[in-house]
This record gives sequence, C-alpha cells and structure tokens, in this order.
Amino acid sequence: MKDFAIHPKIRFAASVTDFFQSYNIGSSDLVFASRRTQQHFPADRLKNAMVIDYRNYASGEPTDQMVENIAAELTGRSFRRVFALGGGTILDVAKLFALKRLSPVDGLFMGELPAEKARPLILVPTTCGTGSEVTNISILSLTKRGTKIGLASDALYADEAVLIPELLADLPPKVFGASSIDALIHAIESYTSPKANACTQLFSLQAMDRILCGYKEIAVRGEAARISLLPDFLLASTYAGIAFGNAGCAAVHALSYPLGASCHVPHGEANYVMFTEVYKAYRALHYDGSLQSLCLHLAALLDCKEAAVFARLEELLGHILDKKKLPAYGVTEKDLDKYTEIVMTRQSRLMANNYTELNAAAVLSIYKKLF
Ligand SMILES: [Fe+2]
Repeated sequence: MKDFAIHPKIRFAASVTDFFQSYNIGSSDLVFASRRTQQHFPADRLKNAMVIDYRNYASGEPTDQMVENIAAELTGRSFRRVFALGGGTILDVAKLFALKRLSPVDGLFMGELPAEKARPLILVPTTCGTGSEVTNISILSLTKRGTKIGLASDALYADEAVLIPELLADLPPKVFGASSIDALIHAIESYTSPKANACTQLFSLQAMDRILCGYKEIAVRGEAARISLLPDFLLASTYAGIAFGNAGCAAVHALSYPLGASCHVPHGEANYVMFTEVYKAYRALHYDGSLQSLCLHLAALLDCKEAAVFARLEELLGHILDKKKLPAYGVTEKDLDKYTEIVMTRQSRLMANNYTELNAAAVLSIYKKLF
C-alpha cells in the first residue's frame, strides 16, 4: 500500500499584517522567531507573547542540547498555542514544543519517550527550502551520537501552515540558493523513492518545474531576478514538502547529515554537495523506472539530452550557489569511512527510500568522488 495525505491546513496570507490580524497572538502563546523575522512584524503585534529566538541558545544547526536549554527556560509556563516563523531549523525545533513532553530530547528521538501532541501548532516558513511546515519530521543533531537524526511522528504535524511571500524578501542570496536547492532535492528524492505514487509525483514535478524554471531565469537575468520569483519558490518548497512528507527523502540527505553535523555545514548546502554524485551512482547501478522518467522530464525542461541531465543540472545550479569539495569544509580522508559507517548504521530511515540499493562500498565511493 502507498499513501498520500496533506495534513496541515494550508493558508495563504496576503501580508504579515493579514497574518497577525487573523491570529491575534497574545500572552498565552509561545512564538519562535528570529530577530530578522521579527523586523517584519507590525509594532506591538506580539502582545506579551513568550518569544524565543533560538540564536540565543546556539549557533549553527540545532542540537538536542539547544532544545533542552529552551525547555529549561520555559519550565513552569504553559501555552495555549505554539507559533513558529522561520527557516526549517526554527520550525523543526518549535514542533517539539507542541508535544506533552520533550525532555530528555535524546530519548524522544531514540523512541524511548512517546511523541504526544498537546497544543495547536502554526508554522510559517521564511525560507523556500525545508517544507517543514507540511511534514511530520523534526531533525536535530544529537550531540552524543555525532549525527543528525530525524524524528518522524504524526504528533509533529502542524495544524496550520501559513505562506507569506513577503517574509522571504530579505533572504540573502546564499540562503535563498541553499534552501531552494534543498527543496529541489526534496522534489527529486521523493520522485524516485519507492514510496512515490501518482499523487506525490504530481507535487514533485510541480516543485521541480517551478524551481528549475526560476533558476533558468536567474541564470539569464542575474541574482536580483529571484525577488519577483519568491512566491513561486515558496509554493514550490511547500509542494516539495508535501511530496517528501509522503514519499520520503533518501541517500542525498543521508550522506549529507554526517557532513552537516561534524562540520556545521548548512543543511541545503550539505545536500548540494552530495546531490548529483548520488544520482550518477544510481544511474550507473540501475537505469529504469522512476529514474528514467525523471531524466526524460529534466532533459525536456533543461533543453539537453537525457544522458547529460546531471551535468546540465550541475551547470545550472552553479549559477545559484558555489559547490565545494569535501576538504573545503575540513573533512579528511579518514573521515570518509566514519561517515559511511554513520550512513549505513544510523540513516536507515532515509536509505530505505533510495531509488536503488546503495551498499557501504557505493556510499564510500560517492564520498571519495567528492573529496
Ligand atoms: Fe532537506
């Protein structure tokens, strides 16, 4: 059996003011928002709500310890609703605060503590990448385990996801590039997942088309062209979130997690490093079915031959973000065996969604090509 569902109600706000008028956020609400996002808020709109800026608790990617520190600060307070306005990191962290219990966070992520929803959760993305607003996944670096782990539970679904393109207007070009490439990878990994079905592939294809057509325009007109395309990219990232929320992500994400956790590389950028090499490996192992139909679709979209799709993708993505080799992040050749072991032993949730099986030798070979 293959399933498809869209869980949160998706709402489209015309502006930030429209959003605040609809929700009337007050003192019984918990709000996660960065300083950058708060600059968009109309004056006095938070009306004594408890506001958490996660950057006060950690730098870089979110960890279990950071969540413990926030939870400790909130001890003794109760909240009616949880809001989060931010990138995937902020949304992923906020999801945990809609649960009855979240500490010990390591135990929650390792399945020793049940995930039970306690209060409504409203998520507002401010990047065009993670799709976290429509998925039931929260991803953290678990400090003592040395890698990122995803917790997937229906208790983590938002009740409402609200799309406000205005909030993306001041996204720096590098963040725009990394987050939209992440969304493209969500669309592609979910398309070739064995859990994909006709409904998930509809959302995957729509997301790919919007993102790649946008990239073609940026490649011709320059990076400033992205501004008028932001509503399209925001919608594409939500579409991709719906697709991978149902069909899953796979090896690109699995291979990127050790890099992200050990070298503090932002999620979208770490995925970008792995992306085309993983797909070239799939193609060399088994070229049929969803991978072949993906390549045919991309060849038409990118005006190239089917066999040149990944080279053409690399060229196009090069207009959006510089791609680095692993040593540029401080990775040593010795690390590659350790990364491979982490992927094979701790990322089985993702590796189960691979287009075709990748064993330890195949994973190590991908890392070596990127070294
Ligand atoms: Fe991702």
